[in-house]
Amino acid sequence: MNRIRVSAIMLLSFGVLLTACSSELRDASDLPSQPVLFGAHGKGYAIMSSDNFHATDIRNRLQWDILGCRTCHGYDYNGGISQLSCNSSGCHLAADGGPEACYLCHGDSQTKKIYPQWYNAHAVHLEGGPRSAVTIACTDCHNLPINFEDPAHIDKETPGRAEVYFNNAIASIKTIGTEGEPTYDATTGSCSNTYCHGNFTNGNNATVVWKGQDQGKCGSCHGDPDTGNPLPRSPHPQVANCVQCHPGAIDASNTNPDPLLHVNGVLNVFGQERTNW
Ligand code: HEC
Ligand code: HEC
Ligand code: HEC
Ligand code: HEC
Ligand code: HEC
Repeated sequence: MNRIRVSAIMLLSFGVLLTACSSELRDASDLPSQPVLFGAHGKGYAIMSSDNFHATDIRNRLQWDILGCRTCHGYDYNGGISQLSCNSSGCHLAADGGPEACYLCHGDSQTKKIYPQWYNAHAVHLEGGPRSAVTIACTDCHNLPINFEDPAHIDKETPGRAEVYFNNAIASIKTIGTEGEPTYDATTGSCSNTYCHGNFTNGNNATVVWKGQDQGKCGSCHGDPDTGNPLPRSPHPQVANCVQCHPGAIDASNTNPDPLLHVNGVLNVFGQERTNW
């Protein structure tokens, strides 16, 4: 397969070279015809179940660098000299960027969501969840490339991972008892010292694992993580009827905080909105 590919590429450069050197050719019909590269990729390149499927090749051999595909399939992937358009294959849509569509490599092609779907933390932070409607931008946590070619997109130093930083205002809020700055540990894939996960007065300052399960249980940020009781430890009043002092911010069952008011950086107590606590 490699041999066929190498000869295909040689054939191609030969064709280009020939065109470039043919200054004495005046008539378009005198130009050498484009090479036909039958069998350019070997068997099964378009068949998902094949070991030679192109997505597997792109991952294993090319380390995700698909820009070379443009050489033959065209800058816009509409066929180019190969005359085989990726966009009319039924799999890639020109309007979404063809094979460069963000959702293809790390998203969901059904919903066209562009962030990883194989664990839950992206969805909760980007779309909000039942406990908090507060959402965060990609660039609050790591770079968002402007397109596939962006030099900040795919790097060879830390392959397969995003370089995480903290740029989020809520995560960095300080209250009485806050210790340290929010940090991300790439080795363990975990966040610590975030306001959101309990780095505040009487909070638990939980260290949460980004790709872990069940990282936002009731009690994990404030209260008792083992029993799930959200009542913050003393000196917070040890009275379980939250709604009595936090009216509007939680329902009468004392279990469902209002997602619009919860983990939003503002403490709702006695009908007031407090940032000085
Ligand atoms: C050297 C030119 C060349 C390059 C570079 C190239 N292709 Fe192709 N590709 C072709 C040609 C020509 C065909 C037409 C089918 C054939 O004869 O194999 C083709 C066919 C295909 C097919 C259909 C294969 C089939 O069996 O139906 C896929 C999928 C494909 N290319 C993907 C890619 C991807 C992905 C890249 C980049 C990693 C790429 N190509 C780079 C020339 C090229
Ligand atoms: C061909 C596959 C592929 C396509 C298409 C693709 N990406 Fe990526 N993307 C990757 C890989 C692989 C990484 C892992 C990054 C690394 O190794 O540094 C990545 C990383 C990222 C990251 C993490 C940030 C970082 O600093 O590494 C973001 C955000 C991202 N891509 C957004 C996009 C967007 C937006 C698009 C569409 C314009 C896109 N990607 C298209 C393969 C792809
Ligand atoms: C709350 C912070 C946060 C937000 C917001 C966020 N990400 Fe991430 N992202 C992460 C972390 C943490 C990782 C894992 C980094 C590692 O592997 O060490 C990651 C990894 C990734 C990766 C690499 C693949 C992977 O699963 O590790 C891609 C791609 C990515 N994010 C895309 C996006 C896109 C696109 C957005 C916006 C639509 C986004 N992220 C928003 C924190 C975030
Ligand atoms: C008797 C009144 C009262 C009840 C009942 C009450 N709280 Fe509070 N809560 C307060 C006050 C007052 C503050 C602000 C304390 C301060 O100024 O630091 C507070 C603050 C908080 C904070 C911020 C952290 C802290 O301790 O300052 C959380 C989280 C919280 N309450 C959750 C709850 C939950 C969950 C319940 C029910 C299980 C509950 N509260 C029941 C009065 C109450
Ligand atoms: C991801 C961490 C996290 C989890 C999980 C969590 N909380 Fe909170 N909670 C906070 C933060 C942060 C605050 C501080 C006030 C704010 O920013 O809204 C807070 C404040 C509160 C308050 C005070 C009112 C307010 O919103 O200002 C109540 C009541 C409360 N939480 C109840 C609960 C209950 C009940 C659960 C479980 C169903 C729960 N919390 C789970 C982070 C969390």
